Amino acid sequence: MDTTVPKFAIRSENGPIGAEITGLDLAIPLDDATFDEIESALYRHAVVVIRDCLQTPPQLASFSRRFGTPQINVRAEATNAETPEVFWISNITKDGQPVGSHDAGRYWHSDLCYLDAPSKVTLLNAIEVPTRDGMVFGDTRFAAATAAYDALSDDLKRRLEGLRAANGYRYMWNKKAHEFGLRPVLSEEELERYPPDALHPILRTHPVTGQKCLFVCEGYTHRIEGLEASESDELLRTLFEHLAKPEFLYRHKWQVGDLLMWDNCAVQHKATSDFELPLRRLMQRCTIEGTVPF
Ligand code: OGA
Ligand code: MN
Repeated sequence: MDTTVPKFAIRSENGPIGAEITGLDLAIPLDDATFDEIESALYRHAVVVIRDCLQTPPQLASFSRRFGTPQINVRAEATNAETPEVFWISNITKDGQPVGSHDAGRYWHSDLCYLDAPSKVTLLNAIEVPTRDGMVFGDTRFAAATAAYDALSDDLKRRLEGLRAANGYRYMWNKKAHEFGLRPVLSEEELERYPPDALHPILRTHPVTGQKCLFVCEGYTHRIEGLEASESDELLRTLFEHLAKPEFLYRHKWQVGDLLMWDNCAVQHKATSDFELPLRRLMQRCTIEGTVPF
């Protein structure tokens, strides 16, 4: 009789990013060799889903800690009370209060890029996925920041070399508040409870793979240091359009129990808001602190 534990399978998508792992049971403690395989798949494919992996908040936090130090989100009302490193993303309201963030990921972004040390990895676990008549809604889209860098013209690469840009949580807050109306518009004074801008290089080197990545995003990046506002706005607009080109994209269609992991240096992501209540979506997330971009 064959008593070997069945080996899990990793299948990669066509294109620069995306892979799927099946046959892996996270309820069994992971040995280091298996974890190393998962981590190296993440750096190879940038977006990796482990299927059939519904976690409790403590389980999600515990698996996430294998990647490093979990971050506690500045938006305290959307974090899980007992396990504050778990953050809720949902369109559900309970007792008149939103369960987590209702407008997460509406613009292209890289998680927590408003901090000096942004997230290196995000883990997002699907508890409820909106479906109707066999159709699944609320896909998450990813853009390969590596392929986007590679495709920049030599002229543009030269122009961007050494430039830094401001990434702002406060900027994002009011931009979302005005556009979607799902969070209150805050005064300058109220915004001060959130972190100030972080300046990051526009062309970033991946700390593990050494690949160059384009590191500006529509959601948070609002000013290139040292340029006139009009020049900065125009250049940023060009870069945001470039990143969203179809050849760099991968689209994740969710299944309940998916544990999706992504590399926030190698990709940016964006939610799809193509559903509303009574279709429910409930996700739990952990982000892991990365290094200061260079
Ligand atoms: C996130 C995020 C997008 C989505 O979890 O960081 O941006 O589709 N989510 O929920
Ligand atoms: Mn995000």
